[in-house]
Amino acid sequence: MDRRNFIEKSCLTCLAVAIGGVTLNSCSSMKTVNSFADDGYLILDKTEFEDANTQEEYNSIIVTSNSLKTPLILFKTGSDSYEAVSLECTHKGVKLDLVEDKLECSAHGSIFEKNGTVIKGPAKKNLKRYSVDKTITTIKIQL
Ligand code: FES
Repeated sequence: MDRRNFIEKSCLTCLAVAIGGVTLNSCSSMKTVNSFADDGYLILDKTEFEDANTQEEYNSIIVTSNSLKTPLILFKTGSDSYEAVSLECTHKGVKLDLVEDKLECSAHGSIFEKNGTVIKGPAKKNLKRYSVDKTITTIKIQL
């Protein structure tokens, strides 16, 4: 193997590992937090976005509650900014999956932006968005 072939094969191997890593990352299970409603809000500690074992930060977490028919997903959109949208497809109510940076419905193929905007039907309505407030240590999702 000459030097050129070695470099080409090395680059392809690195690319395959990088793509494989991204794929594994996007397929890994997401953190789910259960929260109880308090005075019309779901209240979460901001540390929920930190992995206690690895100290890595999640970009999003799923929030369940006895006050929600379908879980919502809470995105960390900046150093201290958050967005929450329902995971209930507006077509026929199937729970959506986060696939890379889109919310996809496995039932009939609707796709939504992370902010809830529908980008592919059959769903016609955007996802329900929740108002998010915060304190120094908590995130408050208004139901
Ligand atoms: S229920 Fe989601 S596209 Fe039909």
